[in-house]
Amino acid sequence: MSKIISMHYEQGVLKLIDQRKLPGEFVYFECRTYREVEFAIKDMVVRGAPAIGATAAYGAILAARQFMQECAGDRKSFLRKMEKALDFLNCSRPTAVNLMWAVKKMKDCLAENRDASDDTLMAAVEQLAHDIFNEDRDLCISMGKHGNTLVPEGAVILTHCNTGALAAAGPGTALAVIREAHNTGKKIQVYADETRPRMQGGRLTAWELMQEGIPSKLIVDSTAATLIRDGKIDLILVGADRIASNGDAANKIGTFMLSVLAKTYNVPFYVVAPVTTIDFEMEKGDEIEIEERDASEITHINGIQTAPEGMEVYNPAFDVTPQENITAIVTDRGIIFPPFNEGIAQLKESVQ
Ligand code: MRU
Repeated sequence: MSKIISMHYEQGVLKLIDQRKLPGEFVYFECRTYREVEFAIKDMVVRGAPAIGATAAYGAILAARQFMQECAGDRKSFLRKMEKALDFLNCSRPTAVNLMWAVKKMKDCLAENRDASDDTLMAAVEQLAHDIFNEDRDLCISMGKHGNTLVPEGAVILTHCNTGALAAAGPGTALAVIREAHNTGKKIQVYADETRPRMQGGRLTAWELMQEGIPSKLIVDSTAATLIRDGKIDLILVGADRIASNGDAANKIGTFMLSVLAKTYNVPFYVVAPVTTIDFEMEKGDEIEIEERDASEITHINGIQTAPEGMEVYNPAFDVTPQENITAIVTDRGIIFPPFNEGIAQLKESVQ
């Protein structure tokens, strides 16, 4: 089990490991209001699909505490303000569906407890946030175990972005599989893509891999093609921010390119994600909203300008890997093989 815990909530304070500062500094970013939580998600203090879902759930506690005081017994006004605050949190980043999933759960919880006493309602909101966090930890552990069945002894694994404990409540998604394979003594080796422009691989995955003592090497994103072509990679493990009902999967920009290489050179390409990352309402990946982030992420490195002043930039944070490029989807409930629409439809029935 990973020793890294991405967040901690206690008595009106949500402490998040400030992922913007890693690996140089290990500091916490403290949120006391839901607006600070929205900032933390938007500015990527916290990132990774399951982690932002759990963070938003804790943000709902902070909003509820604030509005309980402000509304002093006026339940209608409390619920109105909560609705607005939850919508605000919902919009902090558009691609990872775990955020919308957590916000919807909170809205349902408020609706169920709309006539309850203040204490009961507050307790229900707090309990739900903790449940979302704890459930995600368990889902990570299950994904690790299921995914490990696909990892051969001595495998060389390529991964992209950060899918570890920093991105979730437990050991992560794709990185949970890597952890499990390592912990069960499979003598694996990992290549971690740097993951431009935010360097989640170079800063965060590298940090997690080193903490665990997992044999690994960091590569620039463009090295992956040569490694794959030369037969140096046995399998690719990535996470997802949203999976459509047909299996198309949005993940960090660059994932699609890896999937094309994997298909060309016959390397298994696995997407690892909890059921909370599946958008059962969405038919295909082309409906997924892809976040575009600030130009400065590309024109500047650590505050130093690296592109000419005024240069235009295109900076999508994610891309969509078409289902036909995916070998299997590892979920907390088991592994889904093509045709994904059938496996996902069965999963939908089992979670409802
Ligand atoms: O922009 P980020 O860092 O939030 O993107 C994260 C990813 O793309 C991860 O691969 C994804 O959330 C799945 S891992 C938990």
